[in-house]
Amino acid sequence: MRPRPLRRLAPCAAAVLMAAALPALAQDALQARNLAATCANCHGTNGHAQGDMKPLAGVAADKIVAMLADFKSGAQPATIMHQIAKGYSDEQIRLIAGYFAAQPPKSK
Ligand code: HEC
Repeated sequence: MRPRPLRRLAPCAAAVLMAAALPALAQDALQARNLAATCANCHGTNGHAQGDMKPLAGVAADKIVAMLADFKSGAQPATIMHQIAKGYSDEQIRLIAGYFAAQPPKSK
């Protein structure tokens, strides 16, 4: 019997690797959504703000990260966001910002 060429195993190995990476991505997405939900009380569901509140949906992730960093450091005075921003790690803020940036802005 001839040994099977290794080449034929390659696609199989790739599929296994991809399957292993997927749950990590899905977990990130879930975590981002859960974290973003903690902003919904004030900024609306999925960042679609009501009334005078600033919407977050569709705002560039970099901008959200920068604004939260300014609240955190105190560079941007706030009534409440300076406290809220301190409750999240940089990694969590990055996930939250990515989530809101990906939401379609509300059509008026
Ligand atoms: C308790 C209500 C409340 C919650 C919860 C809240 N915010 Fe805010 N947010 C505010 C208020 C009020 C302001 C206006 C600044 C201030 O006075 O603190 C604001 C302002 C902001 C701004 C600046 C918007 C702009 O265009 O100037 C960003 C960005 C923001 N919030 C992000 C978030 C994120 C992200 C979360 C969730 C992690 C969150 N907020 C949770 C009340 C809230």
